[in-house]
Amino acid sequence: MQTFQETVDYLQERVGSFVPEFGIILGTGLGALVNDIVVYETVPYEDIPFFPVSTVESHSGKLIFGELGDRKVVVMQGRFHYYEGYTMEQVVYPVRVMKVLGIQKLFVSNAAGGLNPDFSTSDLMVITDHINLQPQNPLIGRNNDELGPRFPDMSEVYEESMIQQAKQIGLEQEMKLQFGVYVSVPGPMLETRAEYRYLTLIGADAVGMSTVPEVIAARHMGIPCFAVSVITDLCTPEKLKKVILLDILEAAAKAEPQMTFLIRELIAAQPKEV
Ligand code: HPA
Repeated sequence: MQTFQETVDYLQERVGSFVPEFGIILGTGLGALVNDIVVYETVPYEDIPFFPVSTVESHSGKLIFGELGDRKVVVMQGRFHYYEGYTMEQVVYPVRVMKVLGIQKLFVSNAAGGLNPDFSTSDLMVITDHINLQPQNPLIGRNNDELGPRFPDMSEVYEESMIQQAKQIGLEQEMKLQFGVYVSVPGPMLETRAEYRYLTLIGADAVGMSTVPEVIAARHMGIPCFAVSVITDLCTPEKLKKVILLDILEAAAKAEPQMTFLIRELIAAQPKEV
């Protein structure tokens, strides 16, 4: 684990005594949360020893340390997807680094296709559970007992108390929130009609190509997780149309202020350590 320690040492040198309380991973087209952050330090991924480097143009890869409200956070602006050719170990590497840097909870956003017929474009869906259809898994291989157990529990993969807090924020702010199951597929192609039908049948409300590996790694280490999808395209048979990345980014941009607000308020609502 020499390389891992080098990554951590480098970042700790950059941020000194700054200890982030929360980790945030921002998804496709959802990077604007960083505008709300009083930035303490920005570290481009390519500067970090042994850190993977993002290959998708719409993801700008930076680790941002700063304060959101009065809470210390570390934000991944841009994440690593399995379809880019990274190993699952690389995909979750930053989550493991964030844990060593001190995070106690993880907040994740993503862009996703809406399978539930009640969903509209640019809706926010709080993820209540997930289905893992990724072909690989970050926990496969010899277990690192220092990180977590061989067979981690997934019965409450998304922290129920944070789901309830999000519901409360939605009610108080009259913000439309959907709740549902996210299925993670490898991509990079979007799904066929038959695949959308299949994903609906197995119980998913939204489909995307990320989040689940990072959440599995976080839960392995005992980190409570909250995740939210921005519904960027509709995948029911009667609403399905050709999707281009620009449409996905446009739908994400429309929902971004709401998503940013939700995560900011949720983070502010977390009890402070005494
Ligand atoms: N499928 C998979 N991933 C996605 C989609 C989709 O329809 N939309 C945004 N990310």
